[in-house]
Amino acid sequence: MKERLQKYMAKCGVASRRKSEELISQERVSVNGEIVNQIVMIDEELDTVKVDGKIIRPEEKKVHLVLNKPVGVITSVKDQFNRKTVTEILNIDERVYPVGRLDYDTSGLLLLTNDGDITYKMTHPSHEVEKVYLARIKGIPTMEEIESFKSGLKIEDYVTAPSDIKILNKYGNSSLTQITIHEGRNRQVRKMCNAISHPVLELKRIRMGQIELGVLKPGEWRELTEAEIEYLKNI
Ligand code: URA
Repeated sequence: MKERLQKYMAKCGVASRRKSEELISQERVSVNGEIVNQIVMIDEELDTVKVDGKIIRPEEKKVHLVLNKPVGVITSVKDQFNRKTVTEILNIDERVYPVGRLDYDTSGLLLLTNDGDITYKMTHPSHEVEKVYLARIKGIPTMEEIESFKSGLKIEDYVTAPSDIKILNKYGNSSLTQITIHEGRNRQVRKMCNAISHPVLELKRIRMGQIELGVLKPGEWRELTEAEIEYLKNI
């Protein structure tokens, strides 16, 4: 959509509209490489605007969300097989990207943001953000299996970092456990449970660092609170 150049400049945080008009008349602004000295209409999708030789862009509003990802939805912005994606179920105007991923068959807490710094901090291995899952697993693990789970398991070509597993409830041939890990390798919880011969039957993430899933139902989302955003920025 076309808009006046000085309005676009203000939207980009260059200066007020009034001050932007002055910059234009001082011939400090170019559109697609041509210096302009009067008000023109521009299309932000198509035109490149520079002030003093530097490209300007609209300041993007930062969005931080937590979604309860349902089972059967893919953690991606697009899917080559046309499966439903997490951004489709959000139905918002801003573009956001998932922070890390949950498997197609896993439900629960998924952060989504357009703030690259936060994505970096939350997914960088050196930050070791705690991730907590509720896992219904086949059978009931023995003390030895629990100990080996906690101290580190050999999976493919790596050994997992120390983690935690607590049995919350025992059923006939399955148990409900709470599992805490500090890494984020592909299908890690499922692989760890396979390694102790108690495959995952259902998996849900309930916490990442200080961010909790809380009462959100599958498919529901909320914006992070100021305190949660502050916490993420300070990781
Ligand atoms: N571990 C898994 O195995 N799957 C997930 O979705 C998340 C952690």
